[in-house]
Amino acid sequence: MKRKNAGGCCLPPIEIPLIDLRKQHRALQPKIYAALRHVFDSSVFVMGPNVRSFEEEMARFCRVKHAVGVASGTDALLLSLAAVGIKPGDDVLVPSFTYTATAAAVCHMGARPVFVDSLPDGFNLDPADAERRITPNTRAIIPVHLYGEAAPMDDILALADRHNLRVIEDVAQAVGARFGDELLGSLGDVGCFSFYPTKNLAGCGDGGMIVTDDDEIADKVRLLRQQADASVFGGEKYTHPAVGYNSRLDELQAAVLRVKLPHLESWNRLRQLHANQYRRRLRESGLGLPARGKDDRHVYCLYTVRCSERDALRQHLRGRGIGTEIYYPLPLHLQQAYQHLGHREGDLPVAERLSRESLSIPVYPELTADQVDRVADAILEFLGSRVKPEVEETVTHEL
Ligand SMILES: Cc1ncc(COP(=O)(O)O)c(C=O)c1O
Repeated sequence: MKRKNAGGCCLPPIEIPLIDLRKQHRALQPKIYAALRHVFDSSVFVMGPNVRSFEEEMARFCRVKHAVGVASGTDALLLSLAAVGIKPGDDVLVPSFTYTATAAAVCHMGARPVFVDSLPDGFNLDPADAERRITPNTRAIIPVHLYGEAAPMDDILALADRHNLRVIEDVAQAVGARFGDELLGSLGDVGCFSFYPTKNLAGCGDGGMIVTDDDEIADKVRLLRQQADASVFGGEKYTHPAVGYNSRLDELQAAVLRVKLPHLESWNRLRQLHANQYRRRLRESGLGLPARGKDDRHVYCLYTVRCSERDALRQHLRGRGIGTEIYYPLPLHLQQAYQHLGHREGDLPVAERLSRESLSIPVYPELTADQVDRVADAILEFLGSRVKPEVEETVTHEL
């Protein structure tokens, strides 16, 4: 049955949603239910064996010394900033074109997010612009590996070295992605993951993790996530050497995530295959397509195209039963939440343009090749229907 939208016209049901976890869960249902039953049988719901094992498995996967589970990706950022000693009066470089959590975590420390523009030919933070914005108070930089693509970590690490900055990688959208041979999250001082259900490693609720090779950072996060209770390190219970947080990954989430982790690489590979199919179908279309690094190390948490007629394209795809989303319609420097920083339109022109042009289309692993073709067909139909498509300069990176 067709549904009427606000304008009165009929919309077909969404047949190809942007994200759909049902197939993944159907395939894994016996294992997930068994894992959950085990938790219920033990009735250990907090800081139990699944969290410990999942931490070990993630540390092995990322090839780092420590992985510490926390309640969300936002908390991973917050506790990392606290652990590296960010405090009121400090400046932290963050991209403007990202999810608000990246900058909100900085504000919650009482520090100031300093917004950085995006690369002229990509979506990630521009290290040259970051360097221009360094102040005597700058203490850290948070590169976000947006949509599953590595930020330019060689330049970012060199910049951090030159200016003595801590590097906190926001890997919320890029679990399993690489920079060179290194897993993202393992390059900076600390990496912050999210297991929110839209991510490549999707929990059944909120969850997050920090990974690091730094013993001190790991121990601080272990302490802070449990109200900084001295008993975490063998001290007296209910004595608190610091002001902490309640931010633990719970056993039920860890049990589900342990079932899923062994599948992550094959799911990421499927995302890459879909991305290759989109590329083959759309390379001549004039759309801006996502960059593809050597060996396809991008893990396509989102497949995001750029189109100067983005809103019309979105409407067209909706009319063909295809779900899309805009990540993100307003860059952070123009959001009300960060008004106190005094930015105006035009300050970060690349981020502003990305907000006007970006559209994410379905790329989840369980899509069929036929569904990917249907999305590509609908896009080509839209572009073909334009008398003279006013598509701005495209970004296509070939191998
Ligand atoms: C780039 C980025 N950073 C941080 C977060 C925050 O993660 P969470 O939703 O788990 O708190 C997200 C998740 O939406 C994200 O996409």
